Amino acid sequence: MEQVISIQKVTKKFKDKMAVNELSFSIQKGEVVAILGPNGAGKSTTILMMLGLLEATNGKIEVFQNSPKEKSIREKIGAMLQEVSVIDALKVKEVLQLFRSYYEKPMDFEELVILTGLNKEDLKKRADKLSGGQKRRLGFALALAGDPDLLFFDEPTVGMDISARKRFWDTVTTLKERGKTIIFSTHYLQEADDVAERILLFHNGKLVTDGTPHDIKNKLTKQSVSFMEKNGVPLSEIRSLPFVTEVYIKEHRIFVVTEQTDEVLAYLFEKKLGVTGIEIEKGRLDEAFEQLTKNKEVI
Ligand SMILES: Nc1ncnc2c1ncn2[C@@H]1O[C@H](COP(=O)(O)OP(=O)(O)OP(=O)(O)O)[C@@H](O)[C@H]1O
Ligand SMILES: [Mg+2]
Repeated sequence: MEQVISIQKVTKKFKDKMAVNELSFSIQKGEVVAILGPNGAGKSTTILMMLGLLEATNGKIEVFQNSPKEKSIREKIGAMLQEVSVIDALKVKEVLQLFRSYYEKPMDFEELVILTGLNKEDLKKRADKLSGGQKRRLGFALALAGDPDLLFFDEPTVGMDISARKRFWDTVTTLKERGKTIIFSTHYLQEADDVAERILLFHNGKLVTDGTPHDIKNKLTKQSVSFMEKNGVPLSEIRSLPFVTEVYIKEHRIFVVTEQTDEVLAYLFEKKLGVTGIEIEKGRLDEAFEQLTKNKEVI
């Protein structure tokens, strides 16, 4: 696999504020990675350092095995930052053409318009006359103008309506299919769960967990099998099963907390306990997120 990003023991201090604290991770070609974390966790700072726009206080950052400041490396990168600022006096179409002209092999203009959902009217408007959502669409188009191999999106869907959001993620999926490496930050757990194949969870400038959405949910959230009983079930026997963490009764339902829901079901059927209304509850990513950012001892 080709390594696209390597971060080793990177620290960023702003005066005495430790924004990023001994961060290490690497990202391979073609990965779609979400950086998740509460306000002030260090997401934007890390993205800016990977873009070569902020200098790390300590540690080493390599993008395509090189410094992110190298011109040849910068040409392979596109970004949509949290703060979008554009050249106000130009029309959208002109800004796009200008950005395309910076690159040797820019993305085809028509394709750029289609992929980002800009319409004919948007193209004729002056950039400073765009609405918030339209500005983000322009920011998206500018990120794609150079047809880059590596893309960064810092909270890309803030201010987008539902259809703009859907289009954005559909385009991200298309870009992924073309082999692009995509890194985005978000507060929306659902987006990370739906789109990313890997989540880096940040808290207080540190990486607190790194895994697939599935792994993170499995590792940190409780799953349970619940049911109603008819003829009495041997609660203490269930409680002593090796794969059961806890058993409790709530509103006439028995809840069996476990990491292996299949084993609990197999046990119930094998013993012919005649239970009814079986339900399985899987953990949710927001529970995992809450647990990780509140209570670091669980890691
Ligand atoms: N230029 C700066 N000068 C001083 N402190 C800064 C600067 N930029 C960021 N910080 C501080 O560093 C910490 C991390 O900020 P950062 O913007 O990376 O967080 P974030 O995870 O992107 O948050 P958000 O979700 O709100 O965008 C915060 O405490 C912030 O106040
Ligand atoms: Mg930020």
